[in-house]
Amino acid sequence: MLQYVAITLVTLVIGIYWYITRNFNYWKDRNVAYPEPTPLFGNMKEVALRRKNIGIAFEEIHNQFPSEKVVGVYRMTTPCLLIRDLDIIKQVMIKDFDLFTDRGVEFSKDGLGANLFHADGELWRALRNKFTPIFTTSKLKSMLYLMIDRGDKFVKYVESLKEPEQEIHGLVQQYTMATIAACAFGLDFDNMQDKLDILKKVDQMVLTPNIALEIDMMFPGILRKFNSSVFPKFVTDFFYNMVKQIITERNNAPTNRKDFMDLLLELRDKGEVQSVKKAEEVERQSVAITDGIIAAQAFVFYVGGYETSATTMNFLLYQLALNPDIQDKLIAEIDEVIAKYNGEVTYECLTDMVYLDKVFKETLRMYSIVEPLTRNALADYKIPGTNVILKKGQTVLVSPRGIHHDPFLYPEPEKFDPERFSVENSANRHPCAYMPFGVGPRNCIGMRFAQTQSRVCIAKLLSKFRVEPSKNTKREMKYDPNRVIIGPTGGNYLNIVKRK
Ligand code: HEM
Repeated sequence: MLQYVAITLVTLVIGIYWYITRNFNYWKDRNVAYPEPTPLFGNMKEVALRRKNIGIAFEEIHNQFPSEKVVGVYRMTTPCLLIRDLDIIKQVMIKDFDLFTDRGVEFSKDGLGANLFHADGELWRALRNKFTPIFTTSKLKSMLYLMIDRGDKFVKYVESLKEPEQEIHGLVQQYTMATIAACAFGLDFDNMQDKLDILKKVDQMVLTPNIALEIDMMFPGILRKFNSSVFPKFVTDFFYNMVKQIITERNNAPTNRKDFMDLLLELRDKGEVQSVKKAEEVERQSVAITDGIIAAQAFVFYVGGYETSATTMNFLLYQLALNPDIQDKLIAEIDEVIAKYNGEVTYECLTDMVYLDKVFKETLRMYSIVEPLTRNALADYKIPGTNVILKKGQTVLVSPRGIHHDPFLYPEPEKFDPERFSVENSANRHPCAYMPFGVGPRNCIGMRFAQTQSRVCIAKLLSKFRVEPSKNTKREMKYDPNRVIIGPTGGNYLNIVKRK
C-alpha cells in the first residue's frame, strides 16, 4: 500500500514538474537567446513574488543581451518575445500594426473591461476612432481653465504647509487627482472628501499588481474565457454609480463645462461608434455608447491620467533638486514667458516654455513609467531580419526603459541632460528610440493632456517655490514592486522653499 502511495506521489511530483517546465525548451529549440527560466515562474519569479517591478524586470532582461535583436522570455510558463532592435520595433508596432492591434491583456470585456486600454480588435478600433477627437488641442484648450484652477489651489495649499520637507509624490498626486477628477467627471474635490477617500482606495486596488495577471500569463486568455474581470466589483460599482449620478445631474445632456463627461455625452447623442477598417476588409463593428461604455472610459481616463502624471512630476522635481543649475534655467524661462503673456498662463504661454518641454521629455527618458509595451500577434508572423516565427496569439514586448538607457543612443544615460531634446539632437533620432508614451497607432491617447496638466503644475509651483534636497532625500531611486507602473518606493522627500 505504502509503495503505491509513494509511486503515486513521485508520479504526481514528476507530472507537476513536467507541466511547469514543459515549454522551457521553446527558445532553445529556435536558437533564440533567453535568460534561464525558473520552474513555474519562468523569468517572472521576482515579479510574481512582488520583489521587483515588472517594468524593471524587463529592463534588466533587455540589458542582459546587448547584442541580440530579440530575446526569448518566459512570462511564467508562456514563451514570449522581447524585441530590442529599433527597426524591428518600428516594423511590428507601426508598419505591420494591423497584425498587432491587440495589447493582449485578456479578460472580460464587460463592464469596465470595455475601456480603451484593455479593449482588443474591432471594439478597440471603434473606441479609439471615436475618442481621439476628445484629445485634440482645441478640446484641451477648452479644459485648460480647470487645470489652471486646480493649479492655483494646489499652490495655495503648498503655501499653507508648515514644514519645508514634503513627500513629493503624495503631494503632486493631490493636484493630478483634483485635475483629472475635474476634467473627467466635473468633480470638485473641495466638497467631496467621501469620494476622495474612495478614489484613494480605487488607486490601491487598480494599480497594485493582481494575481489574475500572472494567471493570464500562464494560461493566456483564461480570464476572457471565464468572463472574469481583473477589477474588483467595488471599483466597477463605484464608477458605474458615479457616472450615472453625473449624467442624471446633467439632465442626460452635455453642459458647458467642456470636460470629458460632456464630450462623452456629446458622442452618445451622435449615436453609435464605428470602427474604421481597411477598405478591403468586411464589416465594421458598431458600438453603442451606453452609460457602461462611458463609465469604462471615464475610469481609464481617471486611472491613466492622474498617477502617470504625478509619478512623472515627482521624478522631474527630484532631478531639479539634484541639478540646481537646470532648475535655475527653468525658473528663469518660466518667469520670462509668464511675464511675456502679462502674467496669464494660457495654452500658448505653456507651449512657449520650450526648456520646460525638454526637462519633461528628459524626465520621461530617464524614468519611463508604463512598461513594458505589449502587443499580441493576430497571425503567424516572421520577425523581419531574423528566422523567428511568432505564432498567432503570442505576445511581443518592448522595454522603453532599456532603450532609453542604452549608452549608444543616449551617452551617459544616468546623467539628467534636457539638451538631449534640443531640436538638433532630436532630429536624427530613430522614431523608436524614445517611447515613454508608447509607439504607433496604439500609443497613449492622453499624451498631450499629460503634458499640459504637468506644465501647468510645474509652471505654477516654480513661479513661487524651488525644490532642494532635504535630509531624507534619496541618492538613488528605488522602484515599488507593488505598483503596476514604475513609481518610487518609500516616498521621495524634498524641501519646498519659497523663492526670494
Ligand atoms: C506622463 C503621463 C503618461 C504616460 C507616461 C503614459 C504612458 C502610456 C503608455 C506607455 C501607454 C501604452 C502605449 C502603447 O502600448 O504603445 C499608454 C496608453 C494609454 N494611456 Fe497613457 N500615459 C500618460 C498619461 C495619460 C493620460 C493623462 C491619459 C488620459 C487622460 C492616458 C490614457 C491612456 C489610454 C486610454 C491608453 C490606451 C490607449 C489605447 O490603447 O488606444 N494616459 N499610456
